Amino acid sequence: MEYSLLHRKPEQNGVLATCQELGITLIAYSPLAQGLLTGKYSPENPPPGLRGLRYGRRRLRAIAPLLRLLQSIGEAHGGKTPAQVALNWLICKGAVPIPGAKDARQARENAGALGWRLTPEEVERLDQVSGNL
Ligand SMILES: NC(=O)c1ccc[n+]([C@@H]2O[C@H](COP(=O)([O-])OP(=O)(O)OC[C@H]3O[C@@H](n4cnc5c(N)ncnc54)[C@H](OP(=O)(O)O)[C@@H]3O)[C@@H](O)[C@H]2O)c1
Repeated sequence: MEYSLLHRKPEQNGVLATCQELGITLIAYSPLAQGLLTGKYSPENPPPGLRGLRYGRRRLRAIAPLLRLLQSIGEAHGGKTPAQVALNWLICKGAVPIPGAKDARQARENAGALGWRLTPEEVERLDQVSGNL
């Protein structure tokens, strides 16, 4: 299912809870919200093509606090990137994210979401800030 910090429907419609109850692993597609959660896009630098239409300048402005939080949490973990933090948040939720990558650098960076874990407090803070968007 589509699941990310910018698309939390699986938490709201009961699918995630039901998966947990039945011992089913939820596969999260578009876990980086098509690149938005990497922090590289902004109102001044919107994503190209159809993504630019889906995520307009207003949306990009609204998510800025979440991107700042991803950045600061990543710094507290020794320099993890916003993308790595966003993927780790999904792992903490019990999902398996399947990020897309356009090149080897992106694939390597995304693999860096593995092998460490956000604290419960960080997960809660991300829940709060993304829940207000
Ligand atoms: N089963 C389904 O129904 C379904 C539906 C949709 C997608 N998917 C699958 O889910 C996967 C992801 O799809 P998605 O593209 O929507 O989602 P995504 O993982 O949210 O975003 C991937 C895009 O973000 C950018 N990116 C990824 N890693 C990055 C990094 N470390 N640094 C900077 N930019 C990075 C790249 O695009 P740019 O460099 O151009 O920004 C990349 O194409 C794919 O395997 C896709 O096939 C499945």
